[in-house]
Amino acid sequence: MQEFSILAPDDWHLHFRDGDMLNETVPATARCFKRAIVMPNLAPPIVNTKMALAYKARILAATPAEHDFSPLMTLYLTDNTSSEDIIEASKAGIVAAKLYPAGATTNSDAAVSSLENLYPVLQTMSEVKMRLLVHGEVTDSHVDIFDREKVFIDQKLSIITERFKDLKVVFEHITTADAAQFVLDSSENVAATITPQHLLLNRNDLLVGGIRPHNFCLPVLKRNTHQEALRQAVASGSNKFFLGTDSAPHEKQQKESACGCAGCYSAWSAIELYAQIFDELNELDKLEGFASHYGPDFYGLPRNKEHITLERHEWQVPSECTLKNGESIVPFYAGSTLNWRLKIPQ
Ligand code: NCD
Ligand code: ZN
Repeated sequence: MQEFSILAPDDWHLHFRDGDMLNETVPATARCFKRAIVMPNLAPPIVNTKMALAYKARILAATPAEHDFSPLMTLYLTDNTSSEDIIEASKAGIVAAKLYPAGATTNSDAAVSSLENLYPVLQTMSEVKMRLLVHGEVTDSHVDIFDREKVFIDQKLSIITERFKDLKVVFEHITTADAAQFVLDSSENVAATITPQHLLLNRNDLLVGGIRPHNFCLPVLKRNTHQEALRQAVASGSNKFFLGTDSAPHEKQQKESACGCAGCYSAWSAIELYAQIFDELNELDKLEGFASHYGPDFYGLPRNKEHITLERHEWQVPSECTLKNGESIVPFYAGSTLNWRLKIPQ
Protein backbone atom coordinates (compact mmCIF):
# COMPACT_ATOMS: atom_id res chain seq x y z
CA MET A 1 0.00 0.00 0.00
CA GLN A 2 1.43 3.38 -0.99
CA GLU A 3 -1.16 5.63 0.60
CA PHE A 4 -4.33 5.41 2.62
CA SER A 5 -6.93 7.74 4.04
CA ILE A 6 -8.58 7.79 7.43
CA LEU A 7 -11.19 9.98 9.02
CA ALA A 8 -9.42 13.06 10.41
CA PRO A 9 -7.97 12.30 13.86
CA ASP A 10 -8.08 14.16 17.17
CA ASP A 11 -5.44 14.30 19.90
CA TRP A 12 -7.04 13.47 23.25
CA HIS A 13 -4.15 14.68 25.42
CA LEU A 14 -1.53 17.33 24.79
CA HIS A 15 0.24 20.37 26.22
CA PHE A 16 0.21 23.55 24.15
CA ARG A 17 1.87 25.71 26.85
CA ASP A 18 1.21 29.47 26.55
CA GLY A 19 2.50 32.77 25.23
CA ASP A 20 4.88 32.70 22.26
CA MET A 21 5.12 28.92 22.47
CA LEU A 22 1.54 28.71 21.10
CA ASN A 23 2.80 29.92 17.72
CA GLU A 24 4.91 26.77 17.58
CA THR A 25 2.66 24.17 19.19
CA VAL A 26 -0.77 25.02 17.80
CA PRO A 27 0.17 24.93 14.08
CA ALA A 28 2.05 21.66 14.67
CA THR A 29 -1.12 20.00 15.94
CA ALA A 30 -3.64 21.79 13.72
CA ARG A 31 -1.80 20.62 10.57
CA CYS A 32 -3.34 17.20 11.15
CA PHE A 33 -5.71 17.01 14.14
CA LYS A 34 -9.17 18.60 14.16
CA ARG A 35 -9.54 18.73 17.93
CA ALA A 36 -7.29 18.35 20.94
CA ILE A 37 -7.81 17.97 24.64
CA VAL A 38 -5.65 20.75 26.06
CA MET A 39 -3.97 20.07 29.37
CA PRO A 40 -4.42 22.78 32.00
CA ASN A 41 -1.01 22.54 33.74
CA LEU A 42 0.14 26.07 33.05
CA ALA A 43 1.79 28.14 35.74
CA PRO A 44 -0.56 29.15 37.31
CA PRO A 45 -2.86 26.26 36.35
CA ILE A 46 -6.23 26.67 34.59
CA VAL A 47 -8.57 26.22 37.55
CA ASN A 48 -11.79 27.92 36.47
CA THR A 49 -14.00 28.66 33.48
CA LYS A 50 -12.79 32.21 33.04
CA MET A 51 -9.16 31.10 32.79
CA ALA A 52 -10.05 28.22 30.45
CA LEU A 53 -11.99 30.44 28.04
CA ALA A 54 -9.24 33.06 28.00
CA TYR A 55 -6.69 30.29 27.29
CA LYS A 56 -8.92 28.93 24.53
CA ALA A 57 -9.02 32.38 22.90
CA ARG A 58 -5.20 32.54 22.98
CA ILE A 59 -5.01 29.12 21.32
CA LEU A 60 -7.51 30.11 18.64
CA ALA A 61 -5.54 33.30 17.98
CA ALA A 62 -2.47 31.12 17.30
CA THR A 63 -4.37 28.77 14.94
CA PRO A 64 -3.43 29.28 11.27
CA ALA A 65 -6.44 30.49 9.26
CA GLU A 66 -6.24 27.55 6.83
CA HIS A 67 -6.89 24.99 9.58
CA ASP A 68 -10.25 24.14 11.02
CA PHE A 69 -9.17 23.27 14.55
CA SER A 70 -11.06 23.28 17.88
CA PRO A 71 -9.28 23.15 21.20
CA LEU A 72 -11.23 21.22 23.86
CA MET A 73 -10.58 22.82 27.20
CA THR A 74 -10.05 21.20 30.60
CA LEU A 75 -9.95 22.32 34.22
CA TYR A 76 -7.15 21.52 36.64
CA LEU A 77 -8.57 20.01 39.83
CA THR A 78 -7.19 21.39 43.10
CA ASP A 79 -8.13 21.03 46.76
CA ASN A 80 -10.22 24.17 46.24
CA THR A 81 -12.26 23.07 43.22
CA SER A 82 -15.98 23.22 44.04
CA SER A 83 -19.06 21.60 42.52
CA GLU A 84 -20.11 25.09 41.39
CA ASP A 85 -16.85 25.39 39.44
CA ILE A 86 -17.70 22.14 37.64
CA ILE A 87 -21.29 23.16 36.83
CA GLU A 88 -20.14 26.51 35.47
CA ALA A 89 -17.41 24.86 33.40
CA SER A 90 -19.76 22.27 31.99
CA LYS A 91 -22.22 24.98 30.90
CA ALA A 92 -19.34 26.77 29.15
CA GLY A 93 -18.49 23.66 27.11
CA ILE A 94 -15.48 22.49 29.11
CA VAL A 95 -15.46 18.77 28.53
CA ALA A 96 -13.12 17.40 31.18
CA ALA A 97 -11.19 18.01 34.38
CA LYS A 98 -7.73 16.71 35.11
CA LEU A 99 -6.64 15.03 38.31
CA TYR A 100 -2.93 15.35 39.01
CA PRO A 101 -1.70 13.92 42.25
CA ALA A 102 0.25 16.76 43.93
CA GLY A 103 3.86 16.78 42.77
CA ALA A 104 3.34 14.17 40.05
CA THR A 105 4.67 16.13 37.09
CA THR A 106 5.35 19.52 35.43
CA ASN A 107 3.48 22.30 37.30
CA SER A 108 1.49 19.93 39.50
CA ASP A 109 2.28 21.55 42.84
CA ALA A 110 -1.23 23.00 43.14
CA ALA A 111 -2.85 19.61 42.61
CA VAL A 112 -5.08 17.48 44.78
CA SER A 113 -3.63 16.28 48.09
CA SER A 114 -6.66 14.31 49.33
CA LEU A 115 -8.82 12.26 47.03
CA GLU A 116 -11.60 11.94 49.63
CA ASN A 117 -12.05 15.71 49.74
CA LEU A 118 -12.68 15.61 46.01
CA TYR A 119 -15.62 13.17 46.21
CA PRO A 120 -18.37 15.84 46.03
CA VAL A 121 -16.67 17.28 42.93
CA LEU A 122 -16.42 13.84 41.32
CA GLN A 123 -20.10 13.28 42.08
CA THR A 124 -21.00 16.54 40.32
CA MET A 125 -18.77 15.66 37.37
CA SER A 126 -20.59 12.37 37.06
CA GLU A 127 -23.97 14.17 37.09
CA VAL A 128 -23.04 16.79 34.49
CA LYS A 129 -21.23 14.15 32.40
CA MET A 130 -17.84 15.77 32.53
CA ARG A 131 -14.94 13.41 31.88
CA LEU A 132 -12.34 12.83 34.59
CA LEU A 133 -8.81 12.63 33.20
CA VAL A 134 -6.26 11.10 35.54
CA HIS A 135 -2.50 11.27 35.69
CA GLY A 136 -2.19 7.81 37.19
CA GLU A 137 0.82 7.88 39.47
CA VAL A 138 1.19 8.07 43.24
CA THR A 139 3.80 10.49 44.46
CA ASP A 140 4.79 8.98 47.83
CA SER A 141 8.57 9.23 48.03
CA HIS A 142 8.98 5.63 49.19
CA VAL A 143 7.27 4.23 46.07
CA ASP A 144 9.72 3.41 43.31
CA ILE A 145 9.12 5.54 40.20
CA PHE A 146 8.67 2.43 38.04
CA ASP A 147 5.89 1.17 40.36
CA ARG A 148 3.93 4.39 40.72
CA GLU A 149 1.31 3.64 38.09
CA LYS A 150 0.51 0.18 39.46
CA VAL A 151 0.28 1.51 43.03
CA PHE A 152 -2.01 4.30 41.82
CA ILE A 153 -4.36 1.74 40.28
CA ASP A 154 -4.47 -0.30 43.48
CA GLN A 155 -4.72 2.58 45.95
CA LYS A 156 -6.65 5.28 44.08
CA LEU A 157 -8.06 4.55 40.66
CA SER A 158 -9.84 1.32 41.58
CA ILE A 159 -11.54 3.21 44.42
CA ILE A 160 -12.66 6.05 42.13
CA THR A 161 -14.07 3.74 39.46
CA GLU A 162 -15.77 1.53 42.07
CA ARG A 163 -17.35 4.46 43.89
CA PHE A 164 -18.35 6.56 40.83
CA LYS A 165 -19.60 3.97 38.42
CA ASP A 166 -21.24 6.49 36.07
CA LEU A 167 -18.24 8.80 35.91
CA LYS A 168 -16.37 8.49 32.62
CA VAL A 169 -12.67 8.23 33.36
CA VAL A 170 -9.73 8.47 30.97
CA PHE A 171 -6.60 6.88 32.40
CA GLU A 172 -4.10 9.11 30.62
CA HIS A 173 -0.87 8.02 28.94
CA ILE A 174 -0.81 4.49 30.32
CA THR A 175 2.59 2.83 30.50
CA THR A 176 2.14 -0.64 31.97
CA ALA A 177 0.56 -4.02 31.29
CA ASP A 178 -1.23 -3.53 34.63
CA ALA A 179 -2.89 -0.35 33.40
CA ALA A 180 -3.97 -1.90 30.09
CA GLN A 181 -5.44 -4.87 31.95
CA PHE A 182 -7.19 -2.62 34.47
CA VAL A 183 -8.85 -0.70 31.63
CA LEU A 184 -9.92 -3.90 29.89
CA ASP A 185 -11.34 -5.32 33.13
CA SER A 186 -13.24 -2.09 33.95
CA SER A 187 -16.66 -1.03 32.74
CA GLU A 188 -17.26 0.79 29.47
CA ASN A 189 -16.87 4.05 31.40
CA VAL A 190 -13.11 3.58 31.71
CA ALA A 191 -10.75 4.13 28.77
CA ALA A 192 -7.11 5.09 28.24
CA THR A 193 -4.91 7.20 25.99
CA ILE A 194 -1.56 5.85 24.79
CA THR A 195 1.35 8.00 23.57
CA PRO A 196 3.70 7.26 20.66
CA GLN A 197 6.71 7.12 22.96
CA HIS A 198 5.24 4.42 25.19
CA LEU A 199 4.46 2.31 22.11
CA LEU A 200 7.84 2.87 20.44
CA LEU A 201 10.22 2.79 23.37
CA ASN A 202 11.07 1.15 26.66
CA ARG A 203 13.39 2.18 29.47
CA ASN A 204 16.46 0.87 27.65
CA ASP A 205 15.85 3.67 25.15
CA LEU A 206 16.16 6.11 28.03
CA LEU A 207 19.20 4.69 29.80
CA VAL A 208 21.33 2.33 27.69
CA GLY A 209 24.47 3.85 26.19
CA GLY A 210 23.93 7.19 27.95
CA ILE A 211 20.95 9.13 29.29
CA ARG A 212 18.60 10.25 26.51
CA PRO A 213 16.85 13.32 27.91
CA HIS A 214 14.53 13.66 24.91
CA ASN A 215 13.04 10.24 25.71
CA PHE A 216 12.32 11.29 29.29
CA CYS A 217 8.65 11.78 30.03
CA LEU A 218 6.23 11.04 32.83
CA PRO A 219 5.04 8.47 33.54
CA VAL A 220 8.56 7.25 32.81
CA LEU A 221 9.15 4.58 30.13
CA LYS A 222 8.87 1.07 31.58
CA ARG A 223 10.46 -2.28 30.78
CA ASN A 224 9.97 -3.88 27.36
CA THR A 225 7.28 -6.32 28.55
CA HIS A 226 5.07 -3.33 29.37
CA GLN A 227 5.79 -1.74 26.00
CA GLU A 228 4.78 -5.00 24.38
CA ALA A 229 1.52 -5.11 26.37
CA LEU A 230 0.64 -1.60 25.18
CA ARG A 231 1.38 -2.58 21.58
CA GLN A 232 -0.89 -5.59 21.98
CA ALA A 233 -3.60 -3.35 23.47
CA VAL A 234 -3.70 -1.10 20.39
CA ALA A 235 -3.27 -4.04 18.02
CA SER A 236 -6.35 -5.65 19.57
CA GLY A 237 -8.51 -2.86 18.16
CA SER A 238 -10.30 -2.42 21.49
CA ASN A 239 -12.29 0.81 21.60
CA LYS A 240 -11.03 1.43 25.15
CA PHE A 241 -7.66 2.68 23.88
CA PHE A 242 -7.30 5.84 21.84
CA LEU A 243 -4.84 8.43 20.65
CA GLY A 244 -3.37 10.96 23.07
CA THR A 245 0.13 12.12 22.20
CA ASP A 246 0.98 13.88 25.47
CA SER A 247 3.04 16.15 23.24
CA ALA A 248 4.78 18.25 25.91
CA PRO A 249 7.50 20.65 24.73
CA HIS A 250 10.27 22.01 26.89
CA GLU A 251 13.06 24.21 25.58
CA LYS A 252 16.21 22.30 24.68
CA GLN A 253 18.21 23.67 27.57
CA GLN A 254 15.51 22.59 30.04
CA LYS A 255 15.72 19.01 28.73
CA GLU A 256 19.51 18.81 28.34
CA SER A 257 20.19 19.77 31.92
CA ALA A 258 21.42 18.36 35.22
CA CYS A 259 17.74 18.22 36.25
CA GLY A 260 15.96 17.76 32.94
CA CYS A 261 12.24 18.30 32.44
CA ALA A 262 9.86 15.46 31.56
CA GLY A 263 7.99 15.60 28.26
CA CYS A 264 8.36 14.61 24.60
CA TYR A 265 7.39 17.12 21.89
CA SER A 266 5.83 14.82 19.31
CA ALA A 267 3.28 17.03 17.52
CA TRP A 268 5.23 17.43 14.26
CA SER A 269 5.40 13.68 13.73
CA ALA A 270 2.54 12.34 15.83
CA ILE A 271 0.19 10.78 13.30
CA GLU A 272 3.17 9.56 11.27
CA LEU A 273 4.66 7.84 14.34
CA TYR A 274 1.38 6.12 15.12
CA ALA A 275 1.12 5.02 11.47
CA GLN A 276 4.61 3.53 11.75
CA ILE A 277 3.64 1.65 14.90
CA PHE A 278 0.45 0.19 13.44
CA ASP A 279 2.37 -0.69 10.27
CA GLU A 280 5.03 -2.52 12.32
CA LEU A 281 2.22 -4.38 14.05
CA ASN A 282 0.74 -5.25 10.67
CA GLU A 283 -2.50 -3.63 11.80
CA LEU A 284 -2.67 -0.44 9.72
CA ASP A 285 -6.40 -0.94 9.31
CA LYS A 286 -6.80 -0.45 13.08
CA LEU A 287 -5.21 3.02 13.05
CA GLU A 288 -8.45 4.80 12.14
CA GLY A 289 -10.40 3.43 15.08
CA PHE A 290 -7.63 4.36 17.51
CA ALA A 291 -6.96 7.80 16.01
CA SER A 292 -10.38 8.94 14.84
CA HIS A 293 -13.31 6.89 16.21
CA TYR A 294 -12.86 5.74 19.80
CA GLY A 295 -11.88 9.12 21.25
CA PRO A 296 -14.94 11.10 20.11
CA ASP A 297 -17.16 8.10 20.87
CA PHE A 298 -15.92 8.02 24.47
CA TYR A 299 -16.30 11.78 24.86
CA GLY A 300 -19.81 11.67 23.38
CA LEU A 301 -18.76 14.00 20.55
CA PRO A 302 -19.38 13.55 16.84
CA ARG A 303 -16.64 11.96 14.76
CA ASN A 304 -14.91 14.30 12.31
CA LYS A 305 -16.21 14.43 8.76
CA GLU A 306 -13.02 15.26 6.83
CA HIS A 307 -10.29 12.77 5.94
CA ILE A 308 -6.49 12.84 5.96
CA THR A 309 -4.20 10.86 3.70
CA LEU A 310 -0.90 9.26 4.69
CA GLU A 311 1.58 8.35 1.97
CA ARG A 312 4.52 5.98 2.13
CA HIS A 313 7.44 8.37 1.85
CA GLU A 314 10.65 8.44 3.88
CA TRP A 315 11.42 11.68 5.70
CA GLN A 316 13.52 12.72 8.61
CA VAL A 317 12.21 14.32 11.80
CA PRO A 318 14.10 17.65 12.05
CA SER A 319 16.81 17.91 14.69
CA GLU A 320 15.39 21.13 16.17
CA CYS A 321 12.52 23.60 15.91
CA THR A 322 13.52 27.21 16.50
CA LEU A 323 11.17 29.49 18.42
CA LYS A 324 10.70 33.18 17.71
CA ASN A 325 12.73 34.05 20.81
CA GLY A 326 15.69 32.12 19.39
CA GLU A 327 15.32 29.19 21.80
CA SER A 328 14.99 25.76 20.31
CA ILE A 329 13.03 22.60 21.00
CA VAL A 330 14.27 19.16 20.09
CA PRO A 331 11.29 17.23 18.74
CA PHE A 332 10.63 13.66 19.77
CA TYR A 333 12.42 11.19 17.47
CA ALA A 334 14.66 13.99 16.13
CA GLY A 335 16.85 12.83 13.27
CA SER A 336 15.01 9.52 12.85
CA THR A 337 13.59 8.39 9.54
CA LEU A 338 9.85 7.77 9.33
CA ASN A 339 8.13 5.81 6.59
CA TRP A 340 4.77 7.58 6.49
CA ARG A 341 4.08 11.22 5.75
CA LEU A 342 0.94 13.30 5.97
CA LYS A 343 -0.14 14.26 2.48
CA ILE A 344 -1.03 17.93 2.37
CA PRO A 345 -4.10 18.48 0.14
CA GLN A 346 -3.20 20.43 -3.05
C1 NCD B 1 4.02 16.80 30.92
C2 NCD B 1 4.41 18.26 30.89
O1 NCD B 1 5.59 18.56 30.67
O2 NCD B 1 3.54 19.12 31.07
N1 NCD B 1 5.20 15.99 30.93
C3 NCD B 1 5.29 14.68 30.61
O3 NCD B 1 6.36 14.10 30.75
N2 NCD B 1 4.26 14.03 30.14
C4 NCD B 1 3.18 16.57 32.09
C5 NCD B 1 2.42 15.29 32.07
O4 NCD B 1 1.61 15.03 31.20
O5 NCD B 1 2.63 14.52 33.00
ZN1 ZN C 1 0.43 15.18 29.68
